[in-house]
Amino acid sequence: MGDRTAVMLLMLLLSSWCLTAVTGNRGSGARGGEEGEGGEGSGRRFVLEESEEVVKAEGGEVRVVRGYGTAGRPAPMHIGFITMEPKTLYIPQYLDSSLILFVRRGEARIGWIYKDGMVERRLKMGDIIHIAAGSTYYMVNTGKGQRLQIICSIDTSESLGLGPYQSFFIGGGMYPSSVLAGFDIGTLTAAFNVTTEEMDTILGAHVRGPIVFYNDRAPSQPRSLVSYMQFKQMQVQKEGCAAADDEGEEEMQQEENKRWTLRKFLTNLFYNRKKGKKRSAPNAYNLYDRDPDFHNSHGWSIALDEGNYAPLGINDIGVYLVNLTAGSMMLPHVNPTATEYGIVLGGSGIIQVVYPNGTTAMNAEVSEGDVFLIPRYFPFCQIASLIGPFEFFGFTTSARRNRPQFLVGASSILRTMLGPELAAGFGVTEEELRKVVEAQKDAVMVASWTPPKKRGKREDEPLVIRRMVDV
Ligand SMILES: *[C@@H]1O[C@H](CO)[C@@H](O)[C@H](O)[C@H]1NC(C)=O
Ligand SMILES: *[C@@H]1O[C@H](CO)[C@@H](O)[C@H](O)[C@H]1NC(C)=O
Ligand SMILES: *[C@@H]1O[C@H](CO)[C@@H](O)[C@H](O)[C@H]1NC(C)=O
Repeated sequence: MGDRTAVMLLMLLLSSWCLTAVTGNRGSGARGGEEGEGGEGSGRRFVLEESEEVVKAEGGEVRVVRGYGTAGRPAPMHIGFITMEPKTLYIPQYLDSSLILFVRRGEARIGWIYKDGMVERRLKMGDIIHIAAGSTYYMVNTGKGQRLQIICSIDTSESLGLGPYQSFFIGGGMYPSSVLAGFDIGTLTAAFNVTTEEMDTILGAHVRGPIVFYNDRAPSQPRSLVSYMQFKQMQVQKEGCAAADDEGEEEMQQEENKRWTLRKFLTNLFYNRKKGKKRSAPNAYNLYDRDPDFHNSHGWSIALDEGNYAPLGINDIGVYLVNLTAGSMMLPHVNPTATEYGIVLGGSGIIQVVYPNGTTAMNAEVSEGDVFLIPRYFPFCQIASLIGPFEFFGFTTSARRNRPQFLVGASSILRTMLGPELAAGFGVTEEELRKVVEAQKDAVMVASWTPPKKRGKREDEPLVIRRMVDV
């Protein structure tokens, strides 16, 4: 039933949008689905006439018509209308909602992060494309002197519930603000391996809103592949997005971190064989017996999902364990598919978390026994104190591969997406951006540094539950 209703609603919406486009937005029309307004027999009962402006920029706008849920449930989706003027760029961002974009008019080029690689596609009228929640993307209007009109579904099932959807801008400056700006400046300079001045060149730049005027590169100019081929963790995905949601064995085999492919393959083989032959109750799984999934001189981490241990799939919970050496940092990253709960097992460190609007949500010192949580989509990083290793263990609210997205470092989306679009998103030249983004040679966990001066505990530490347990 849901699907058909959705299709009907979409069709109604399309016609109402066309009407709105002609008559101007009536704005105050009755909210569809509410009782009254002629009651049962009302001819426009399911017409959603109220649209709200979500983005208004020199280069275009986004309006959203909110859906509504039945039986007290939240709306399953909202409908977005993106309009971009000729020669414009929608700067890189990720959302807390999955999108299905439909190109109603015009032509576009869209680039997005897909399974840790980057994909780029040219879109023409009638094309449909899926962008997963938490996946960073940008969009360029490539139509010659033509407006780009896109209609999209905004799936609310994964949203934070703040407004119709929540953008996290990767690019940005004064407006919108990049999520990077929410990290302590000391954290940023250490993470990027640059000076404060160099950091300022990209974060202090003036960006004129989320949709900016932009001269597209010549269509024939090939994208520099060098930067993303340099790192084994990354692959430029050749497949389309049709398989966007497939998970499991196939994915295991195209594991991006080639160093661990063999081990993953063997684990997987073993796991499958067991599953196929025996149906007995599952055995326990020992985290410490497992080889790290990531390892360098600054620490290691293990992430266990249902592919490694099937029982995790039952309640959709993942498990992780991290050991950072003294003074090391786990670079700023984002969990696109899960909220993370952490328990400090040993040592102490600092956890920084950033709000979607690029301000600091938390900058807290934690030590053994502290429990913290990191909301899905919120950028964060962990920094071990200089005293000793910082060990923490935790759970993620998804048993599927979480694929944390690193914002900084050799395996980061800034590196993967480095190009004219990202530079325009920061309001700087590609050279300026490259200088900052390529200075850090390490990935995931980086070298020791001086932690920011203790600024005392913030009044609000909404994400730390202190001393809940003895460990
Ligand atoms: C973490 O690493 C340190 C060495 O850096 C080691 O002494 C400690 O035992 C490790 N912790 C765990 C839980 O393996
Ligand atoms: C950023 O968002 C947080 C949480 O929604 C809010 O408390 C804060 O005031 C916002 N800051 C700015 C500068 O908008
Ligand atoms: C940091 O940058 C310097 C050059 O400024 C470079 O020599 C060094 O290798 C870089 N360190 C890392 C870990 O990338």
